[in-house]
Amino acid sequence: PASQPTVLRGRVVTFRGNPFEGNPSDALLVEEDGVVVMENGLITHVGDWTALRASLPDNATIVNYGDALISAGFIDTHVHYPQLPMIASWGAQLLEWLDRYVFPVEATFADPVVAQAVARRFLTELLGSGTTTAAVYCTVHPQSVDAFFAEAERLGARMIAGKVLMDRNAPDTLRDTVRTGYDDSAALIARWHGRDRLLYAVTPRFAITSTPEQLEAAGQLLRDHDGLFMQTHLAENTGEIAEVARLFPNRSSYLDVYDHAGLVGRRSIFGHAIHVGEREFCRCHESDASLAHCPTSNLFLGSGLFRLFDALDARRPVRVGLGTDVGAGTSLSQLRTMGEAYKVAQLTGRSLHPAQALWLATAGAARSLHMEDRIGTIAPGMEADLCVLDPHAFPLLSDRCDRCESIEELLFVLMTLGDNRCILATWVSGRCVAGV
Ligand code: GUN
Ligand code: ZN
Repeated sequence: PASQPTVLRGRVVTFRGNPFEGNPSDALLVEEDGVVVMENGLITHVGDWTALRASLPDNATIVNYGDALISAGFIDTHVHYPQLPMIASWGAQLLEWLDRYVFPVEATFADPVVAQAVARRFLTELLGSGTTTAAVYCTVHPQSVDAFFAEAERLGARMIAGKVLMDRNAPDTLRDTVRTGYDDSAALIARWHGRDRLLYAVTPRFAITSTPEQLEAAGQLLRDHDGLFMQTHLAENTGEIAEVARLFPNRSSYLDVYDHAGLVGRRSIFGHAIHVGEREFCRCHESDASLAHCPTSNLFLGSGLFRLFDALDARRPVRVGLGTDVGAGTSLSQLRTMGEAYKVAQLTGRSLHPAQALWLATAGAARSLHMEDRIGTIAPGMEADLCVLDPHAFPLLSDRCDRCESIEELLFVLMTLGDNRCILATWVSGRCVAGV
């Protein structure tokens, strides 16, 4: 982190509350001509340019972004880096899509050279999308995790990742065992968890590809180490759910398969959770687990519609963040993901407010990961991870943004029309890592 202070000037947009509680606009904190001061990787001041300019340190570097929006960096709570090479693969739903496209590509990550090349490409794309933290699935190969974390460490980014555990119903070349899965994960935890800004996630792929014994071993890993995450898939597709019921006849639900193994708790992230009921929402609420809403993936694979407003029901709100789920997801952009989340909500009869969508991609995602004291908002003491959104990135967008009469309308136009072209810059730990 740079020890010399850096000052970013622009339209600062962040949160002071939860836009799903009360009037969504009241949760926004906006400085129309704002500044963010960063030093030693942290945010030190936020406020109005005119009020703060006299007190800015005189050795500060000032970057003026004009009327571009300065937001907390986006957070992607569910994504597979090894699937970047097979994104946009045609013609199948989940289980067939895994066999036909995912497993053959993931098998190539036995080669650390492949893993390193894709990890670099992925992180470049991710930061270029304005995303500064992600919960990332690697492959079954420990070297795929080493490659990812090494590159994330070089960039100084706060990342969560883990080795996929998979000891059945997958090709020979992609299977571990209860023993090697445990031992390889433990070695990776010792090497990476808590190093620099990196955190480890125990990563059983899903109930179909792990034996009950492997899920138990995953639970043991969580009990053996402090502060780990757990990430897996839950109730994404009806064919998948039928197979889980067949493989685990004694469990009362898909979530109960994980619960029985001690995998449902704080810092557990369940991808999708489309076909779940009130009991599962209640259990996630009381256990402080979180759900990753992955709209581009759910539409692409035809998996179904996530019931966001049911998940967030104020009587027992479940923590929710947005996930791109590349390679089933069709973009690493959280702007595109917010836009598709709006459409999924429309299909369930609800209108997602732009402040709510931005919250799910920033402060809400941070809260879902229990990291809201470090990332997801712009405030003194928070880590200096930011993205800058340009409302004039291309002519159609610029003309439409010129007609906007409020910050909410501007956010909605950005999430509906915007993509990576809008990411003017991405700052990680107070350093510019993409754009200018
Ligand atoms: N379920 C199990 N593995 C996967 C995966 O790689 N992608 C998605 N979308 N769902 C899964
Ligand atoms: Zn996934």
